[in-house]
Amino acid sequence: MTQAQIGVTGLAVMGANLARNLARHGHTVAVHNRSQSRTKTLVEEHGHEGSFVACETPEEFVAALERPRRVIVMVKAGAPTDAVIEEFAPLLEPGDMLVDGGNAHFLDTRRREAALRERGIHFVGAGVSGGEEGALLGPSIMPGGSKESYEALGPLLEDIAAKVDGVPCCTHIGPDGAGHFVKMVHNGIEYADMQLIAEAYDLLRQGLGLSPSQLADVFDEWNRGELSSYLIEITAEVLRQVDASTGKPLVDVIADRAEQKGTGRWTVQIALDLGVPVSGIAEAVFARSVSGHADLREAARGLPGPSGVPAGVLDESFVEDVRRALYASKIIAYAQGFDQIRAGSAEYGWEVDPGALATIWRGGCIIRAVFLDRIREAYESETPPVTLLTAPLFVEALGLAQDSWRRVVARAAEFGIPAPGFSTALAYYDSLRAERLPAALIQGQRDFFGAHTYQRTDREGSFHTLWSGDRSEIGG
Ligand code: 6PG
Repeated sequence: MTQAQIGVTGLAVMGANLARNLARHGHTVAVHNRSQSRTKTLVEEHGHEGSFVACETPEEFVAALERPRRVIVMVKAGAPTDAVIEEFAPLLEPGDMLVDGGNAHFLDTRRREAALRERGIHFVGAGVSGGEEGALLGPSIMPGGSKESYEALGPLLEDIAAKVDGVPCCTHIGPDGAGHFVKMVHNGIEYADMQLIAEAYDLLRQGLGLSPSQLADVFDEWNRGELSSYLIEITAEVLRQVDASTGKPLVDVIADRAEQKGTGRWTVQIALDLGVPVSGIAEAVFARSVSGHADLREAARGLPGPSGVPAGVLDESFVEDVRRALYASKIIAYAQGFDQIRAGSAEYGWEVDPGALATIWRGGCIIRAVFLDRIREAYESETPPVTLLTAPLFVEALGLAQDSWRRVVARAAEFGIPAPGFSTALAYYDSLRAERLPAALIQGQRDFFGAHTYQRTDREGSFHTLWSGDRSEIGG
């Protein structure tokens, strides 16, 4: 029997496409699915693309693999992943590798990795981004797990990953759950980026009265400059699409409720635990949530808006204002996401290299963009910045965007157009650069009602004012 270099179990579209991608690159791929019909269809329809070994049972699948075995699991995150692990682990031997390519929660990945390590099996939580097309033509791959497992898996994964300037969009991220952690934050950034683009669209549509097809032209134009990215590109495509049944722009017949499978929410939950301010990502998650609250929106629909807006206040220059505000807000969102990665890496001892991560996000993944090359440069410079905001290139971009950014946020408020992403990004920026924050007053309030104490700017120690006494200060 032919020995396969790698196996894929779970042949829904992502799994099937990854298997095809591996086969197209000359690897012999064992394929297995719980219901055999998918395995049959894959081999019937795509068998000519490369060398597949169709397996009916887990036992047959495991026997078809050369040792140490490399098994990619592509099933739904959560209980189905545990079920597949339970099914396959007893059939594997020490040194074998089980790769989970789904969007698993990194804490689940840590638990699974620890349990399988006891049995000598390498469990690799790998973030895979790029959707169905990416899986087939070249995704961005973020594998965690042991270094040793990457030595055996890396060459195959790098082979099928997207390439930018000949560099594969795949690298070893770090031990145990590091791969799934960075994929989670990737998705959080994806949410923020999508929200900012949607706000830019809304501001130009409502503020300037541009039509979806005119806006498609604007996004096409933006895609030729510093904003050039996959998300801007597909925005133009969506805006240009006309609904066949009504003849209206498709964007006008799609219900305005944005859904989510949960990775953006996880990013924010974990950021709260780590104490990292990812306000841009959080606003994006909340904005989706607001859009889905039909009850609240229905109840609030008739509430008063701005009493009047000066006529002709907006002209064509607003397009450039919005473009600059979008770029500046995007810098904030990515800076916050990379901050979270740094905090997660420190908490779990992963030593994630942010420059290497930016490098593999340049292609294949949903947030791929020219901009990521700038982030790579920043992290690979001689003096990597504490926050991306202070990298010289971004200081310059933020400087250029200043007036536009502030005008856009002010106009959004004047016109009553919600722009939570733009607003929170600007507020974060102003908070970080502020000489002093009103947090001092909050400390005073906390001390007043709860004797929570405060620190002073001029002396070391903890202090408390005797608020209900003679208001003298104690402590030190
Ligand atoms: C990717 C995507 C992919 C998916 C997410 C987001 O990197 O290929 O992020 O993982 O689109 O699950 O989905 P939701 O918007 O439904 O949360």
